Amino acid sequence: MQHSKIVGLGHHVPEKVITNAYLSSIMDTSNEWIMERTGISERRWVDPAKDTVANMAAKASRIALERAGLKEKDIEFIVFATITPDYFFPGSGVLLQRELGLESIGALDIRNACSGFIYALSVADQFIKSGMYKTILVVGAEIQSTAIDLSTRGRNTAVIFADGAGAAILQPSDKPGILSTHLHSDGRFAEELYVRDPGSSRPREERQPEQILDTTHYKVVMNGNQVFKHAVVRFMEVIKEALAANHMTKEDISLLVPHQANLRISQYIQEKMELSPEKVYNNIMRYGNTTAASIPIAMSEAWAEGKIKENDVICLAAFGSGFTWASALIRW
Ligand code: COA
Repeated sequence: MQHSKIVGLGHHVPEKVITNAYLSSIMDTSNEWIMERTGISERRWVDPAKDTVANMAAKASRIALERAGLKEKDIEFIVFATITPDYFFPGSGVLLQRELGLESIGALDIRNACSGFIYALSVADQFIKSGMYKTILVVGAEIQSTAIDLSTRGRNTAVIFADGAGAAILQPSDKPGILSTHLHSDGRFAEELYVRDPGSSRPREERQPEQILDTTHYKVVMNGNQVFKHAVVRFMEVIKEALAANHMTKEDISLLVPHQANLRISQYIQEKMELSPEKVYNNIMRYGNTTAASIPIAMSEAWAEGKIKENDVICLAAFGSGFTWASALIRW
C-alpha cells in the first residue's frame, strides 16, 4: 500500500510582538494573571495593512517547499485549515493558490478550529494513499487579532488567541510516514467555544448592517473552565487511541506536539501521561494560541531546532471548538 510522509515544513509569524505589558495597558489584566493561567508571555499580531491569512500561508508554504527541494508548480492540491478566512467566502485555499501563482489545482478549506490542521493532514493523507495526488500542500493559518475584543470584556480570550501560519508538504512513500490519524467531534458542546455571528441562521432583522456592531459579531465566546476540563480528557484519550492503533506505548513517542491551547493544558497532559518535559514541545509562551496554525508552527520550529530526527515517532494532538479533537502518529 502507498503511504504518505511529510517532506517539508515551514512557518511564518508576523513581526509585531504583543507583550503582556501591552495588553495590561489597554485592558484590565496583568502579566502575572496571563502567565499563571496560560503560560503566554508574548504573541504576534499582523499589520492588517500588509498581512492576509493567504499571504502568511504563502510565506510558510514557500519555506516548506524550499526545505523539501520542491517548487510551487509541484503542488497538485491544497488543503487549508483556518477559522479566520480572508473573506466570508471563498475560502483562503483559493487565495493561497493565487498567491503561489498556481492555476486550476484544487483547493479545499477545513473549518475545524484548533483541530483543523490534523483534520487537514488526515484528508491529504487519504488523497496520497489513494493515489489521487502526489504532492499536497497542507496549511494552517489564522489572523485572530483583528477581531479580538480588546476591551476588558474580552480579556479571557484576547490574551490567548494570536496570528501565524504553518505549512507541511506531503508526498507518497513506500514506508509510512503518517502511521494513522484519528478524528472526533461532539457538537453538543458547540456553544462552549464559538463565534456566533455573522452566522446565517438568524432572522433578517438581526442581520441588518446596524447589527454588525452588535456585540455578538466576531465575539469569541469561551467557557474557559469547560474547555479546560474537556481538553485534558480528550487530549489524553486521542493520544492513547493513536498509540493503541499502532501497537505502541508512550515510551515510543519521541516528541509530542500538542495544539498550543494553553501551557497549563500541555503540562497537565505531560504530567498525567508521565512523559518527560523534553518530550513535549511547547512554544505557546512566544506565540499564544494560533488555532489551526499552532501545530504546523510548532512542528516546523521543532524540526528547525533539530528536535525531530529520522525514524522518530511524532505524536500530534489537538482539541478545540466543536468540540473537535484529533491525533496523528508519524514516523519521521
Ligand atoms: N486577566 C485578568 N483576569 C481575568 C482575565 C484576564 N485576562 N480573564 C479572566 N479573568 C478573570 C475572570 O473575570 C474571573 O474573575 P472573577 O473571579 O472576578 O469572576 C477570574 O479571572 C477567573 O476566571 P475564570 O474564567 O474562572 O479563570 P480560569 O482560572 O478558568 O482561567 C482560562 C481562564 C481561560 C485561562 C482557563 O479557563 C483556561 O485555560 N481554559 C482553557 C482555554 C483554552 O485552552 N482555550 C483554547 C482552546 S483551543
